[in-house]
Amino acid sequence: MPTITAQYPSPHVFCGTNELDIATAAKALRDGHLLAFPTETVYGLGANALLPSSVSLIFQAKGRPSDNPLIVHVSSLSDISFHNLTPPLTPLAARLAAAFWPGPLTMVLPMSRHARLAAAVTAGLPSVALRIPKHPVAAALLAKAAVPIAAPSANLSGRPSPTTAQHVLHDLSGRIFGVVDTDNRFADQCGLESTVVDLTDPAHPAVLRPGAISAAQLEFVGGVRFAKTQDNTQRPKAPGMKYRHYAPKSPLQVVEKDLANQISYNLGQGRRVGLLADQQTCDKWRNFEGLAAVPCGTHNDTESFARELYGALRAFDGEGPLAVQNIDIILAVPPISVQDGIGEAVMNRLRKAAAGGNLNHM
Ligand code: TXA
Ligand code: MG
Repeated sequence: MPTITAQYPSPHVFCGTNELDIATAAKALRDGHLLAFPTETVYGLGANALLPSSVSLIFQAKGRPSDNPLIVHVSSLSDISFHNLTPPLTPLAARLAAAFWPGPLTMVLPMSRHARLAAAVTAGLPSVALRIPKHPVAAALLAKAAVPIAAPSANLSGRPSPTTAQHVLHDLSGRIFGVVDTDNRFADQCGLESTVVDLTDPAHPAVLRPGAISAAQLEFVGGVRFAKTQDNTQRPKAPGMKYRHYAPKSPLQVVEKDLANQISYNLGQGRRVGLLADQQTCDKWRNFEGLAAVPCGTHNDTESFARELYGALRAFDGEGPLAVQNIDIILAVPPISVQDGIGEAVMNRLRKAAAGGNLNHM
């Protein structure tokens, strides 16, 4: 990781519901500062995508490899045409945009040769990843900034994505101009990164990263089959897939059945066990000697599990109010429904946290 000189000793914390704060934060973004902001997926680390010097700050602050391109965020479809980011949308892209934007969908599209994006945004690829977020704070900020905003998740490379301003400050304090905080929970919060689809070849659309919008929804609206790219592919379509993904400091094992056996086996080996599971499951095991439980969502509610997953993973690294220490193994119990949509995305992130060293970072 490159050495960072702290440029911003104490980050400004802006209030997401204060109009003046949004205007000040938007001006800072436009002027080239790094600013983290909430979206309905995770916090983004934003920079003016038209300014090479700002975009390079993102890579420095995160310690992100320069061949991993960034998602460009705008507030509306008309911003996309105003800034000439792509040629006119194909019928498939237009149908997906009408159904899922604003929302947790990122479309990788051919980039227009008239686009004026800093080269580092697309890491030299002929395509550009675009998203229009739905979170009202992100929407207001992007509308006010009135420039395309490049924004990866606002974590240090290799850490779980942030879902609170505190997570952002924990990772990036001293490296960013500010963060927009938001206290009220947005109704459509998903807590995991957006679904990324590749539409660069209209005949072969593909899901590059699962998220809250499922392949089934995409196929229903698009009227076409979407391939699912395989992890560990030698030439990944999304360059981020080849990087090592976040893995907690302690090994993590996904436990789909026989939790009681797994717990007693590990305790019997003299290990201190961390349990990551829904609140009700954690309550059952809370008083066991040698076991520390970090609740994640409520039983039978996959959405709540997804919203709380990154906070729970951070707790196992000793961060935040639920922090636990000195865990030898984390047993993660996935929610019951993991077949499609947000459940599939949860499983994808848990498997990556378990594999750690695999070629599958996003
Ligand atoms: O929900 C999200 O998508 C969040 C919020 C902030 O919008 N952003 C996010 O960005 O997760 P990031 O950088 O952590 O993940 C973006 C992924 C990376 O795997 C990257 O390689 C891929 O999208 N990507 C970006 N541009 C691409 C392109 N032109 N072609 C293929 N993949 C691309
Ligand atoms: Mg990320």
